[in-house]
Amino acid sequence: MYEDWDRLYAEANLLNVPRVEGEISCFGMGGSGVVCDILSAFYPLVKDMKFADAVIAVSYSGNTTETLQVVRRALSMDKRVIAITSGGILSTLPVEKVLVRGGEQPRYAFPFLFLPLVKMLRPDLVREVIDSVNAMEAKRVAEDLLSHVRGKIPVFYASTYLGLAKRFKQEINENAKYPAFFGEIPEVNHNEVEGYAHGDSLYPVVFSSSEVDEVTARLVNARVIRVSGMRDVSLLIQSAGFLSVMLAREMGEDPTKLTRIPEGRRLVERIGG
Ligand code: PA5
Repeated sequence: MYEDWDRLYAEANLLNVPRVEGEISCFGMGGSGVVCDILSAFYPLVKDMKFADAVIAVSYSGNTTETLQVVRRALSMDKRVIAITSGGILSTLPVEKVLVRGGEQPRYAFPFLFLPLVKMLRPDLVREVIDSVNAMEAKRVAEDLLSHVRGKIPVFYASTYLGLAKRFKQEINENAKYPAFFGEIPEVNHNEVEGYAHGDSLYPVVFSSSEVDEVTARLVNARVIRVSGMRDVSLLIQSAGFLSVMLAREMGEDPTKLTRIPEGRRLVERIGG
């Protein structure tokens, strides 16, 4: 897993995407939704879709209840909706579609979900995303982090690059079946930092891009990873994948197998979509 992302990005780069302009809202869950969070560092997304000129819905399976609910609400508000999906119910709804190849784990299919979004909203950054993928370098970063995370619970903090922090957390949760958390700077400077008086079991990491991020790092004695732009983000996303798979190996877990997430999806589906 994650070894051949240069191939996946090349495949994703062949996809045609619709032209979008103006105020954009972007939505999805888990490994799909995180692409919106990551892109928000590069394109200001609107939180309330009431104010959006277009709504982008991201769901690899196309069958995620929460995402379908948002799409139906957007359609009822006569919004323009663009779906990035491999199929499912989402592909049967009256929305514009970017249809990507299915058959992968959603988190591993990240290039199929992220690159179309970049192409739509920041086409000038497409080359940076693709060119920054580097399995050898990403593994080096992952190995180094693993040596510190081992036996601890990682907590990832960021401000601008909060999506990156969320992605590290998700990858570790889902692939390694291991606890990990993330928190937003500056909010954590007003609460969470006090918890470190008894935080010996935690390993804090700050994705730093500002002086305030450095303040958080200082308060919790965090490992600092400096991030400045899409090149760093693209490489670090691949590192998150490798780190989680390495940790999965150590925990004796199969990164491709999920149990609680599918169970939760079934239960939520029954509640109603
Ligand atoms: O990585 C995963 O498998 C999950 O986080 C899924 O992405 C999440 O359940 C949402 O599903 P989908 O990506 O199919 O919308």
